[in-house]
Amino acid sequence: MKLALAADHGGFSLKEAVKGWLLEWGHEVTDVGTHSTDSVDYPDYVKLAAALVSRAEVDRAVVLCGTGIGASMVASKYPGVRATLCHNIYTARMSRLHNDSNVLALGGRILGEDLAREMVKVWLDTPFDGGRHKRRLEKLGEIERKILEGREP
Ligand code: RB5
Repeated sequence: MKLALAADHGGFSLKEAVKGWLLEWGHEVTDVGTHSTDSVDYPDYVKLAAALVSRAEVDRAVVLCGTGIGASMVASKYPGVRATLCHNIYTARMSRLHNDSNVLALGGRILGEDLAREMVKVWLDTPFDGGRHKRRLEKLGEIERKILEGREP
């Protein structure tokens, strides 16, 4: 899979760990930064990864900040992005089964590395369940289309 990675200073250290796991598992990684623990603004980096997903230049992205909250908010602004803030194995699995997540948001100040590694693995390996969940995501896409066209969703 082709994956983009982005983080602010709060997610930098976990991003580096995620990058190592993705490469170990044979994925192609585009790391759009940040590249140190110097303080930066999470929108400046997360937007780059979200845009790659939105333009289908990568399959998925993992975005990180201190809590994962800001990162998920930024990524969700991009058309076609289904960003999910996950905190454990259950939410990582459900984000794929029910929400067809294409952007995983993680909190670098929240998660230990062992848990994060399992979460990323589950998120990569779990397929979308389709069925009634597909109908719901189609409604989400319809809301997005209407907003982009300036119509009442
Ligand atoms: C940065 O201090 C922090 O606000 C950021 O990493 C993130 O947690 C925002 O949601």
